[in-house]
Amino acid sequence: MYEDEMDTNRRWWDGATPVHYRSRSYDVDGFRRGASSLLPLELKELGDVGGKRLLHLQCHFGLDTMSWARRGAIVTGVDFSPEAIATARRLSEELSIPARFIESNVYDLPEMHDERYDIVYTGYGALCWLPDLARWAKVVSRSLRPGGTFYVVDSHPFSDLIDENVADRIELKGRYITDGRPEKWVSPDTYTDSDRPLEEQTTYAWRHTLSEIVGSLLSAGLRLDFLHESEMGYFNMHPLMEKRDDGHWVFREGTCGLPLTFSLMAHLPDHCQTVSSSR
Ligand SMILES: C[S@@+](CC[C@H](N)C(=O)[O-])C[C@H]1O[C@@H](n2cnc3c(N)ncnc32)[C@H](O)[C@@H]1O
Repeated sequence: MYEDEMDTNRRWWDGATPVHYRSRSYDVDGFRRGASSLLPLELKELGDVGGKRLLHLQCHFGLDTMSWARRGAIVTGVDFSPEAIATARRLSEELSIPARFIESNVYDLPEMHDERYDIVYTGYGALCWLPDLARWAKVVSRSLRPGGTFYVVDSHPFSDLIDENVADRIELKGRYITDGRPEKWVSPDTYTDSDRPLEEQTTYAWRHTLSEIVGSLLSAGLRLDFLHESEMGYFNMHPLMEKRDDGHWVFREGTCGLPLTFSLMAHLPDHCQTVSSSR
């Protein structure tokens, strides 16, 4: 289901990867010099990853994956964009950061990769690209060893309603609860400082409610450890926002009182039989 839309998205990510690689926002030179692309929120919440086998779903060109590696994790990143995976492999080789990168649609991973991990991680800007969270959660569950930890930090689905075109105050637009069909976006630019128009300019994105995200993981056999909502964002989603020194984006005048990010930790029970990940 939605194979054509995911194909279009993959072409978009192939085109966006070199633009992101050169962008100020991804700051690859800073990363070369040792900067981490991870934010305080996930560093604090996921904690010590030293010596743990960590699978990063939707790793893009690997900065977050390799940032976990620099903190001692034994990392594997997965992404469906050949361009992103090739870039990640080049960078890990150039910087001698041990990391394995697999080119695969998240949904196809169980067919080509039969390993279990201590930690499955996914972060910032990931879930909106997935049409079917029930199927995704089965892949997460299937990738964890019994007792293993799942951690996700991403845009709060409610934050999508903030209208970035109303510059002087917070106004909401659109629907929080959708009919499951994707939103189609057409733009020559990506979300970073783009230096040239993209060839593939169309993307499809899905809005998943918080209950859908949590429910999909529980149905796949995971147990919830915590669910947090935060006013800290990870990108500039409105003209009234500013970037703090620690890398988080927040609303300038006091707090906005709306959740911009959610983070969730869950684990696969020790006795759990892995749920089948077939369609
Ligand atoms: C915004 S990035 C998330 C990673 C990281 N937070 C970052 O900003 O670099 C989203 C990634 O999801 C990948 N992606 C989208 N849909 C996918 C799918 N169905 N299977 C695997 N990867 C997918 C894209 O190729 C892209 O690299």
